[in-house]
Amino acid sequence: MKQLNIGLVGYGFMGRTHSNAFLQAPRFFDLPYVPVLKAVAARNEERVKKFAENWGYESHTSDWRDLVNRKDVDLIDIASPNDTHHEIAIAAARAGKMVMCEKPLGRNAIEAKAMTESIEQAGVPNTVWYNYRRVPAVTMIKELLDEGRFGRIFHYRAKFLQDWTISKDLPQGGEGLWRLDVSVAGSGVTGDLLAHNIDTALWLNGPIVEVTAMTETFIKERTHNLTGKVEPVGIDDASAFLARFENGSLATFEATRYARGHKALYTLEINGEHASAFWDLHDLHRIQYFDHRDEGRVRGWRNVHVTDGDQPYMKHWWVPGLQIGYEHTFTHQFADFVEAAARGRALPPTFRDGLATDRVTDAVLKSAKSRQWEKVEC
Ligand SMILES: NC(=O)c1ccc[n+]([C@@H]2O[C@H](COP(=O)([O-])OP(=O)(O)OC[C@H]3O[C@@H](n4cnc5c(N)ncnc54)[C@H](O)[C@@H]3O)[C@@H](O)[C@H]2O)c1
Repeated sequence: MKQLNIGLVGYGFMGRTHSNAFLQAPRFFDLPYVPVLKAVAARNEERVKKFAENWGYESHTSDWRDLVNRKDVDLIDIASPNDTHHEIAIAAARAGKMVMCEKPLGRNAIEAKAMTESIEQAGVPNTVWYNYRRVPAVTMIKELLDEGRFGRIFHYRAKFLQDWTISKDLPQGGEGLWRLDVSVAGSGVTGDLLAHNIDTALWLNGPIVEVTAMTETFIKERTHNLTGKVEPVGIDDASAFLARFENGSLATFEATRYARGHKALYTLEINGEHASAFWDLHDLHRIQYFDHRDEGRVRGWRNVHVTDGDQPYMKHWWVPGLQIGYEHTFTHQFADFVEAAARGRALPPTFRDGLATDRVTDAVLKSAKSRQWEKVEC
């Protein structure tokens, strides 16, 4: 069978989830290519070597350009901070490589547009790692919507709450903490957390046409890890917005890293004429589902445990009733990507889908400044 030679950029949090997916996918899915962990690139020579040994990469380098220049690498996987996505993706596309890129696609829609044009011109398979689409319960909500069970949609509601940046002593910059440095991240929770909520929302409920937003930076200065100096904080610590979808439904979105007690509380709810569904990342294998067309006497919220073989992705795993978790969402996306790539296709969310999300986050940030409703570029 033909090999798919992978060059990974970044060995942090996402470097690990992706590497795990590359190893797991061929054991649980019948893939058309054999994934080969060819090389990994990250800046720290000693640590990248250790990472390569731990995960079984054949080679390592401290410069991502080495991966793009290698003839024996088919796929560049970008798992490095947001400020690196644009340059690496465009170079990889020009070299004719397939590209999987972490979210958000660019630090803003200008970067994302250039990346999308470049990848489409190259005509290579691509995807953006909005992995929550491939939580089986979330995929099942999409299936129920596509079957028309909800009727006309009135409301969409999403939030993503964390609490890890409340301390004023937390520095900005460097591994993990680059998220607090606006020059690297592009924005705060809007591009980091809300981007996930927005991608799922666009997938489930169609385009967003306009937004009105508010953001706040609660801690205005933090020591920078790279300079050692106290520097202004340019990211949004909290962001909330109202939105109108093209289908006429209304939405509320909220994200913060200052909701004490909440670690990764991504929730979404959709309310239609006939049915409603609710999902919560802390209980990711369940959906709450209500169908008004059920017989009145027994009508109520169903708590559906999404673990059976006829529910999305689950036939690839264990026996009914046994759960899978967060890491499997990456395995699902990689398996789907390999299937699409074998047919020469991009896998949704494609770069164009990633651009659509960046256009919404740009409009959110613009509205927070203008204090006006802002149209989303299409
Ligand atoms: N899909 C998700 O749920 C999800 C979750 C977390 C992070 N992310 C995204 O993944 C990306 C990486 O985030 P993370 O949490 O893994 O960050 P991290 O800080 O844990 O790791 C970043 C890695 O990139 C490397 N790196 C930095 N600059 C580089 C460069 N110029 N060349 C090569 N390597 C470089 C670092 O050495 C490190 O290995 C970000 O875009 C982030 O938004 C997505």
